[in-house]
Amino acid sequence: MSLSVSFSPVRTDADVAVVIDVLRFTTAAAIALVNGARSIIACATLEEARAHAPGVLLAGERNAVRPEGFDLGNSPLEFTKQAVQGRDIAWTTTNGTRALSEVLGSHPSSPLPPTSTPLSSLAPAPLPFQSDVVLASYVNLSAVVAFLAPRLEARSAVAIACSGREGSFALEDSACAGALVRRLRAALGDRLTMNDGARASACIDEAYGEDFARLFRDAQHGRFLRDHGFGADLDACGALDAAPVVPRWRDGRFVAG
Ligand code: MLT
Repeated sequence: MSLSVSFSPVRTDADVAVVIDVLRFTTAAAIALVNGARSIIACATLEEARAHAPGVLLAGERNAVRPEGFDLGNSPLEFTKQAVQGRDIAWTTTNGTRALSEVLGSHPSSPLPPTSTPLSSLAPAPLPFQSDVVLASYVNLSAVVAFLAPRLEARSAVAIACSGREGSFALEDSACAGALVRRLRAALGDRLTMNDGARASACIDEAYGEDFARLFRDAQHGRFLRDHGFGADLDACGALDAAPVVPRWRDGRFVAG
């Protein structure tokens, strides 16, 4: 039963990979699915997302802003029932969906794919090297813990990958990883084998607890979003367990697990 945390997306051969982008992709994705979106097609590039149209909603951001011609941006507040129920969403973001291309394209015996490789082409079902890839954030924290705990009990290896920010450490993703570690450690005790990243993330979680306002104030990307008029998104991203769903990778898309 092993649990690892990496502070930026890396290759993994773990049984379950968990990708975190608290601000804002994995938060908004959980909210979209809980509000009835049928699936999320994670795309590495704008072109890849546009190639899925028409018939899907286009969502995402570049520099936090909705790309031209897209139906939705990356704000969790946009993914209402009215906007997304029954719809497939082709979604591309700066860090979150790119992190996925690292994780989904990872295989110990193969090099990382170029970022232009369509994400949907990277994942034949069933995945040959990971039985599951799921998305986590604060809004679905308890649901993800409930999903992971029995898998760890069954001796699965779980790898948590923080999306980070343009290749660098992101405080909010690391704190959220630590919140998962804390809860899993409480459930499974000393039987859990952890890497140094898991232990370090637990220290960050301990420093902030559930004071998400302070966490997002301290985090560079939180300040960036507030300065660019997305302050209300921060409250949505800190709404603990508001979207109790586990987005799971199936047949090249994320669906409610
Ligand atoms: C990302 O994936 O880079 C983020 O979700 C950016 C954002 O906050 O829109």
